[in-house]
Amino acid sequence: MDPLSRIEQALNAAVSLAEGPGCPPLLAAAMRASVFPRGARIRSRLCLAVAYACGEDEPGVTDAAAAAVELLHCASLVHDDLPCFDDADTRRGRPSVHRAFGEPLAVLAGDALIVLAFQVLAEGAACAPVRLAQLVRVIGLGVGVPRGIVAGQAWECEKEANLAQYQREKTGALFAAATRAGAAASGADPEPWRGLGMRLGEAFQVADDIRDFVCSADELGKPAGQDTAHARPNAVAQLGLAGAIAWLDALAARAVASVPACQGQSDLRSHILTETGRLLPQGLVRQAA
Ligand code: IPE
Ligand code: IPE
Ligand code: MG
Ligand code: MG
Repeated sequence: MDPLSRIEQALNAAVSLAEGPGCPPLLAAAMRASVFPRGARIRSRLCLAVAYACGEDEPGVTDAAAAAVELLHCASLVHDDLPCFDDADTRRGRPSVHRAFGEPLAVLAGDALIVLAFQVLAEGAACAPVRLAQLVRVIGLGVGVPRGIVAGQAWECEKEANLAQYQREKTGALFAAATRAGAAASGADPEPWRGLGMRLGEAFQVADDIRDFVCSADELGKPAGQDTAHARPNAVAQLGLAGAIAWLDALAARAVASVPACQGQSDLRSHILTETGRLLPQGLVRQAA
């Protein structure tokens, strides 16, 4: 089965767990709307690609790891769009979850998806207890404190924030969880895989900052110009547009260079090159060149 179909199937099974008997129907619907229709699924595809490069031998464990990472990402978007954060009315070209279901259900859907991610791990990786423990550890590091998504988002409440730290925590940490979890799911040591995920995640956030500055809301499927509107630390404000594009190129090159030695190293490098090549609209890339 191709990677995207594997991911959609694993996510559908996960969300179906939440739709079991007794679940309040509006909460179940809000959870499904948080996960489907899909975005780019970049983090879960990265997790699968790393697992494969490390010689995947327990596909059920990999599926659980990839689904957990993606559920946590979806939860982070639902919470990020709330009025108390970015107050975004749209996401993936549709009304954001709080606009469709109201704020209480959006808060609860995000909360429930976070818990569901760890339930999915417990179910899917029970056959490999050592890997399960590593998965819980590396994925927890990516979303919690002191350096996961929660910490990254909390920098928005401080008077001052360091841009690289903010971006590494709010976005890089979950990419690092994806690469480390891919390795752990295949029984490989997750530690050498942190650098690749962090660099890729930071590059991804710099690209998001650039798209927020140059693209329209229609192109993005979410509000544009948000970093300026909310005075968020961002790569374009700090480096200028040309500087941000150059920084993105440097981060992408560093990501490709940091793929650890593994049996699928060359295919994985190609995967990362393809992903980083898609981060900016082609017109902008030609203009910058
Ligand atoms: C958006 O992530 C949030 C950021 C970290 C910039 P994605 O662009 O990966 O969102 P989807 O899942 O594809 O919609
Ligand atoms: C997203 O940051 C990071 C998380 C959701 C944790 P942004 O607020 O910059 O992302 P978008 O532009 O809303 O997707
Ligand atoms: Mg935000
Ligand atoms: Mg946002």
